[in-house]
Amino acid sequence: MKASDLISQLIPHLDYQKAGQGKAPVNIALAKYWGKRNVELNLPVNSSLSISLPDLGTSTQLELIEHSQDTITLNGQALSPDKPFCHRLSRYLDKFRPDATFGFTVNTVNTVPTAAGLASSASGYAALVLALNDAFQWQLDTKSLSILARLGSGSASRSIFKGFSIWHKGETETGLDSFAEPVPTLWPEFCIGLLEVDTEEKAIGSTAGMQRTVEQCDLYQSWPKKAEKDVATIADAIYNKAFTVLGETAENNALSMHATMIATWPPILYWQPESITFMHQVWELRRQGIEVYFTMDAGPNLKLIFLSKDIPAITAAFDSIQIMKPFEEE
Ligand code: PMV
Repeated sequence: MKASDLISQLIPHLDYQKAGQGKAPVNIALAKYWGKRNVELNLPVNSSLSISLPDLGTSTQLELIEHSQDTITLNGQALSPDKPFCHRLSRYLDKFRPDATFGFTVNTVNTVPTAAGLASSASGYAALVLALNDAFQWQLDTKSLSILARLGSGSASRSIFKGFSIWHKGETETGLDSFAEPVPTLWPEFCIGLLEVDTEEKAIGSTAGMQRTVEQCDLYQSWPKKAEKDVATIADAIYNKAFTVLGETAENNALSMHATMIATWPPILYWQPESITFMHQVWELRRQGIEVYFTMDAGPNLKLIFLSKDIPAITAAFDSIQIMKPFEEE
């Protein structure tokens, strides 16, 4: 199925109504999405599970103007349409443009501090879909919003929600059963700490990294089954507030994903020496009885997972850490 056919099943008509706005959080996967079974529809090989960080994310305002070109402003700066960022956004907006004479004016602000080293495509596409839903007055349910966000960036499917969410991989070729939904649990003591190593744009993006791993890595064959098992284990651990199980499973899941990247050819290694130094520090803290775990995405930065009782020990060990409490709104 093509993306345009999927969209026409979700949205009955594309009349222009008014300007719109949307806001969405960044999310950190505790059980990772790695591998696409359909690149056009961003259909994943495996399900994934994440936690959203409500005080970090994207706010987007948009307007649809007849007889104009797209104009995209990011953090107050107008961007040249030749930038890959704008090109990708405009190709996504093409799916919703009533006809080629319409241009979108998009004004997007990331509340992700650049220093946090977090990818903003998840919150970016989720905020954009919410702004489109507002502008076109689609009044879509969260399942449909999650599917549309997925078409922009896979992990954006999870940024429609606060708290924990699961993105079900789905089975069908239509992609209508591949969407995220919230795990309805509050865990006020749950903390995420951001440890920045490098915020430069990565040499290989997640789509290319996934494709190379799926195609070239023998170890990858074991990933889909393990990934699915980890989602179930973490979902259960959230339900039972079993922090040790959650932390061990999340850290092992991230290291397993990175193992498939390292074992592909040519190899992909996002880690830098400081990433490994931080891993050893985390393991040393655990030896001292502090329950802290890490996860890492397609980049060198670490995200620590711990409970609020250990904040003093964590801040003492890592000067530069930024601590987030996902269940405490600003
Ligand atoms: O949504 P994408 O295409 O940026 O891929 C995200 C991939 C990881 O961040 C590595 C894992 C995940 O589940 O977020």
